Amino acid sequence: MDEQLWIDVDEYLVSLLSPPDPSLAAALADSAAADLPPISVAPNQGKLLELLAKVNGSRRILEVGTLGAYSTIWLARALPVDGTLITLELEEHHAQVAQINVDRAGFGAVVEIRVGPAARSLRDLISEGCEPFDFVFIDADKEGYSEYFTLALALSRVGTVIVADNVVRGGDVIDPKNPDERVQGIREFLELVAGEDRVDATAVQTVGAKGYDGFALLVVTR
Ligand code: SAH
Ligand code: DHB
Ligand code: MG
Repeated sequence: MDEQLWIDVDEYLVSLLSPPDPSLAAALADSAAADLPPISVAPNQGKLLELLAKVNGSRRILEVGTLGAYSTIWLARALPVDGTLITLELEEHHAQVAQINVDRAGFGAVVEIRVGPAARSLRDLISEGCEPFDFVFIDADKEGYSEYFTLALALSRVGTVIVADNVVRGGDVIDPKNPDERVQGIREFLELVAGEDRVDATAVQTVGAKGYDGFALLVVTR
């Protein structure tokens, strides 16, 4: 298949369905200028996150892996004015860029960026006894997905939607012997999901401006 065609189709779809948003464009430009890696979700994937969060009426969103807050801003668009989005990021530099991007997008009052290893931040949220989240987006280091999923379940209620990014990785996910720890992290996560009777799940392959990858979509059922 022709990767240029995937990119052209993404551009066509985005030009029709995602009118330019200055704060999202500025978030990408400033993330690149600050040397953050170009691994944020594609615009139509960001819009998918916004729509999924909207259809379940999300008021509380949790994100694991902020980078420059590009996906954060898409998700924040789904929230009511009194909503809450907590996003977890390991790197102080990423968090600083993200904070500026969030503020410029007008979401400074709803978004809280917590800096540190996500597993620790998630345990802190649990021990703080925080209210369950309606929507969770897992998109940090792939080696940590199983742990993030387990901790996210503890922060969920029946009906919580969990989306996990990058579960296909160019098709590498089907190779049980792939030496890449990120691939093994995704495989372990998918196997954990498959055996977890509190969730109903699927995974979908995607192609486009961000190459060949995919996402998992989970709903907490009990
Ligand atoms: N969700 C973003 C992209 C996230 S990229 C978007 O689509 O716009 C993955 C991010 O996870 C990076 O910023 C990386 O620094 C962060 N990360 C990596 N390991 C982490 C950890 N252990 N805890 C929290 N964040 C981590
Ligand atoms: C990588 C991480 C991501 O979250 C992504 O969407 C693409 C690539 C990576 O670590 O390579
Ligand atoms: Mg990702």
